[in-house]
Amino acid sequence: MADITSLTQKLNAFGISEPVKPYPGSNPELNPIDLFRSYITQELSRVSGIEPAKIFPALEWTNTSDRGDLIIPIPRITREKNHEELAAEWTSKFENGPYLSEVIAKGKFIQFFFNPRLLGDISIKDILQKGKDFGKAEIGKGQRIVVEFSSPNIAKPFHAGHLRSTIIGGFISNLHEALGFDVVRLNYLGDWGKQFGVLGVGFRKYGSEEALEKDPIQHLFDVYVKINQDITSEKEAQIAAGSTDPQSEIDNEARAFFKKMADGDEESLNLWKKFRALSIERYKATYERLNIFYDSYSGESQVSEERLKEVTKELQEANLITEDKGALLVDLTKYNKKLGKAIVQKKDGTSLYLTRDLGAAIDRHQKYKFDKMFYIIASQQDLHTAQFFKILELMGYEWAKNLKHINFGMVQGMSTRKGTVVFLDTILEETKNAMHEVMKKNEEKYAQVENPEEIADLVGMSAVLIQDMSAKRINNYAFNWSRMLSFEGDTGPYLQYAHSRLRSVERKAGELNNKQELEAADYSLLTEPCAIELIRLIAQYPDVLLNALRTLEPSTVVTYLFKLTHTVSSCYDVLWVAGQEKPLAQARLALYSSARQVLYNGMKLLNLTPVDRM
Ligand code: ARG
Repeated sequence: MADITSLTQKLNAFGISEPVKPYPGSNPELNPIDLFRSYITQELSRVSGIEPAKIFPALEWTNTSDRGDLIIPIPRITREKNHEELAAEWTSKFENGPYLSEVIAKGKFIQFFFNPRLLGDISIKDILQKGKDFGKAEIGKGQRIVVEFSSPNIAKPFHAGHLRSTIIGGFISNLHEALGFDVVRLNYLGDWGKQFGVLGVGFRKYGSEEALEKDPIQHLFDVYVKINQDITSEKEAQIAAGSTDPQSEIDNEARAFFKKMADGDEESLNLWKKFRALSIERYKATYERLNIFYDSYSGESQVSEERLKEVTKELQEANLITEDKGALLVDLTKYNKKLGKAIVQKKDGTSLYLTRDLGAAIDRHQKYKFDKMFYIIASQQDLHTAQFFKILELMGYEWAKNLKHINFGMVQGMSTRKGTVVFLDTILEETKNAMHEVMKKNEEKYAQVENPEEIADLVGMSAVLIQDMSAKRINNYAFNWSRMLSFEGDTGPYLQYAHSRLRSVERKAGELNNKQELEAADYSLLTEPCAIELIRLIAQYPDVLLNALRTLEPSTVVTYLFKLTHTVSSCYDVLWVAGQEKPLAQARLALYSSARQVLYNGMKLLNLTPVDRM
């Protein structure tokens, strides 16, 4: 992919016969900004005598472009105290060269403004040539990343926490893939434990094969709710009759049922297998709507009894176990008070959620030899993950340091519009229908859309996704139908609208929209402030992805895309394509086209499907 000669040619065409040497580890072929960074580093090192290794990583993006493209805080690169003087002195000696248009000392900072003509020449052409590959890099080459996300519980509702895990995990996977990592997407189903005994007993009483085939998730949930009601009423009746220790007959049956499963009894296992297979099939259809797919549907059931025994044995051998009334636990308070004591085996000898996580991690390390593994789980499980990460470390697994919990806050009020129990499918269906209604209101446009149902679904899905990814992960947010579906403000439908409008610019340009000609257009005609602003933004995209790799925040990309679309929309009044002389029209169209490409690439990364019309 990387081909330094093509970049050199571009620079030659710009009159730069000896391009700056790329700073070691930077990659101007994939990320043009690195060329500018390398130049600033080299030149600032010359005038200040400070070594490049200090300067390069200290260059930061600015929040608003009136402060330059990159900025350097002087205190970060020197121990001397006269920061303002140094900033002024170094700036006065600094040669802008072909790369920069302005360098300004501002207090303790130096601001660097890229030469917009050079930036445009390099970036626009680069984006048009690379198309969907623009922004991709290979910095993760040779590294394998396991991403575990979504992980719903069979027979229980797929709640908002699972939805967030699905959305964030999808993004984290895509991001790593785009940056060259080898990504394994894993769904770790809650498909084991006593509740499957309850479900087995419940199915005998209330189950229907027909209802199961038709809608497994709904049916299993209904059965589960009914049988649990029976358990409650059994106990209540005993309490009413004066019992202080009510026992449920059904509960005992359920325990026996699960015990049979754990012992490998074929009949009970076959029923469970059917529940699992039908549920997965149904999940897949829902995931598909959100552009999510998996390399493996694993689950708590897949951790073998042997593995669990081995885990307990290893814990004992490492002297980590203490006994408490027959239960086994690991006392973590010695290492950190907050970690508390973690139970790893119940008194009846059965394993727990935590034990299965220990076993699953060891299995996965053997199977995938991962360099890193991400768990995308709600922050309610911060303690749980911290406990099992710590236990693995204490067991001597050196790779435990490569496990990372990517946590997130809660969604408040995700219910259907009638306020009943949530099923993701129902939410997505409602979103689509509501979106369809909104679209119908603009009759003229609606008439031009060939497949309104499909478009309503795609735009609706982006509403759900963007609502989730707009703010920092850790924040809670309220599920808000009207805000989420609005075309105004920073919403999914707004991004879709921005994309379809850029598409329409391309369509209207007719024959002018010729890839080769656009790549060869004269970008020096793009002189308006808003064109320059747009060029600066699109050139940032590869860097935005690298930044997202550091923050692991979808909002890093979302915020950028809104900045981009707002700038594009402010350009429409100024940068006309229609009615202009051909060279100018071509240059402007090339700019719009490359902005559309960047928007497209960013939306895909977030698992949105950009639409051409809406
Ligand atoms: N099934 C769990 C739940 O719904 C989430 C699983 C998270 N992953 C894990 N390895 N513990 O709460």
